[in-house]
Amino acid sequence: MSTVSEHPFPLDLWSEAVYSRRSIPVTLATGGYAAEPEPPEPDAHPAGTGYPLPPPPLRLAPVPPPADAGLADPSVLAALLHYSFGLFQHDLTPGGWPLHRAVASARCLYPSELYLVSPDPRGGPAEVQRYDPLHHRLDPVRGSRGVGSPGRSRFLVITSRFARTARLYGGYAPRLCAQEAGMLLGSVHLVAAALGLRARPGLDREALLGLCDGWLTPGAEHPMGYLEVGPDADAPLPWVPEDLAGALRARHSGAAIFDPAPVAAPKAMLDELGSALAGAPFSDVSCHLYLRRVDDLPPGRYGYTGDQPHLLHAEDPVPALEQIGRTEGRVSLNFRAVAVTAYLSVARGPAVARHGADAFRRLHLIAGAVAHLLCVVAARHGQSARVHNGYDAAAAGRLLGLTGTDETVLFQIAVGAAKPAPGFRLPVVF
Ligand SMILES: Cc1cc2nc3c(=O)[nH]c(=O)nc-3n(C[C@H](O)[C@H](O)[C@H](O)COP(=O)(O)O)c2cc1C
Repeated sequence: MSTVSEHPFPLDLWSEAVYSRRSIPVTLATGGYAAEPEPPEPDAHPAGTGYPLPPPPLRLAPVPPPADAGLADPSVLAALLHYSFGLFQHDLTPGGWPLHRAVASARCLYPSELYLVSPDPRGGPAEVQRYDPLHHRLDPVRGSRGVGSPGRSRFLVITSRFARTARLYGGYAPRLCAQEAGMLLGSVHLVAAALGLRARPGLDREALLGLCDGWLTPGAEHPMGYLEVGPDADAPLPWVPEDLAGALRARHSGAAIFDPAPVAAPKAMLDELGSALAGAPFSDVSCHLYLRRVDDLPPGRYGYTGDQPHLLHAEDPVPALEQIGRTEGRVSLNFRAVAVTAYLSVARGPAVARHGADAFRRLHLIAGAVAHLLCVVAARHGQSARVHNGYDAAAAGRLLGLTGTDETVLFQIAVGAAKPAPGFRLPVVF
C-alpha cells in the first residue's frame, strides 16, 4: 500500500486509476475486505469527550446580523457541520450500508474527516477540533477552548484516511478519496454560502500543510483541502438554491444497481445546473452532458454556453453511453432509463506541468466540488444522481471530442428518477 502512505498521489495514478482501473483488487469482486489487519485508528476519541453541538435547524437561512459572529456562534457551526458533512439517513436493512451522509461516498466507506481549525489571534498554536457526525459534536484534537471561541478566521480542513477505502479498493483508494474530498469541499462551501458566511475554498498545498502542522498523524491521514470562513474570506458569491436543507435531505444515489424509472427530467433542472456551474467555486471544470430524456430538449450531446445547455450533436445517446460506461466489459448501469449523464473534465496537462503529482489532488478536488453541486441540483428536481466510476476515460474523451486536448474526464454522474433500495432508510434527527 505504498501509494497510501508516503506519496499519496504518484503520477502513475493517472494511468492506474483514471485510465485503466487496474489497481482495483479482487477484494472488490468478492465484496470482502482485505485480509490484512485493520489499521489502527489513532483518531478514535474516547466516547463523551467532545462538545455537543446544538441541534441543526430544519432550514438553512442566512444568519441574521451580526453575521460577523460567524462560526463563533455554536448554532451556526452546528448548521454548517451537519448540512455539509453530517449523518442524514440510517439504513436498517440487514447487510446494507447503514449510514448515509450529506455527501456521497463510494460504498459508504467515508474516508473523509472534517476539522475546525481556529488560529489563535495571539499567534499561538491553532485550536483544532474534529467533527464527529455520528454524535453531532466536536471532539478536541489540540487545545480545548470549547465550542464558539472567538477569533477572526476559521478553517474547515478536509483530510482523508485512505486506509478505510483501501481495505476494499487497494491502490484505487486515493482516487475515490480525492473525489470524495472534492465533493465535501463543494458541500461545505455551499452550506456556508446558504448561511450567508463569507467563505473561500482553498487548494493551496503549502497553506494546507500549514493548517495541518503539528496535529495530523502523518501517513495515516492525508490533508486534502480547506475552506476559509471569516470576514477576510472574500470570494465571488456562489449559487445557493432555495430550501437547500430540503434538497440535501432528499439527496441520494439510488439503489445498488442504478436503474431509474424511464421518465423525463424537467428542463428547469438543466437551467439550474447552468446557474450552479456558473457559481461553482472553481471555474476550470467542463461539464459535458448526454441527454436521453429531458422535457422540451432533443436527445443528444450537450455542453454549456454560459449558463445555458447547448446542443452539440443530436443523437440517441445510448450507444455512446454504453461504450463509455463500462465496468470490466459490462455496461455499468441502465443508461437506457437515465434522464441525463454528465461527464466532468479538467485540464490535466497544464496542472501536471505546474503542480506535478499534486495535480491529482487538486483536479479531483475541483471536479468533486462541481460533482456535489450536480447531485444537489438533481435532488431539487426529484432526481437521483449517481457518481459511478465504471467508465472508460479514454472512450469518454474520444466520444466527447476531447482527443488532442488536455482534458481528462474525472467524473461520470448518471441522473434519473431512481429510488434507494427498498429498505428502511430513517432520517437521522439530532
Ligand atoms: C467518489 C465516488 C465514487 C463512486 N463510484 C461508484 C461506482 O463505481 N459504482 C457504484 O455503483 N456507485 C459508486 N458510487 C456511489 C456510492 O456507492 C453511493 O454514493 C453510496 O452508496 C452512498 O449512497 P447515498 O449517496 O445514497 O448516501 C460512488 C460514489 C462516490 C462518492
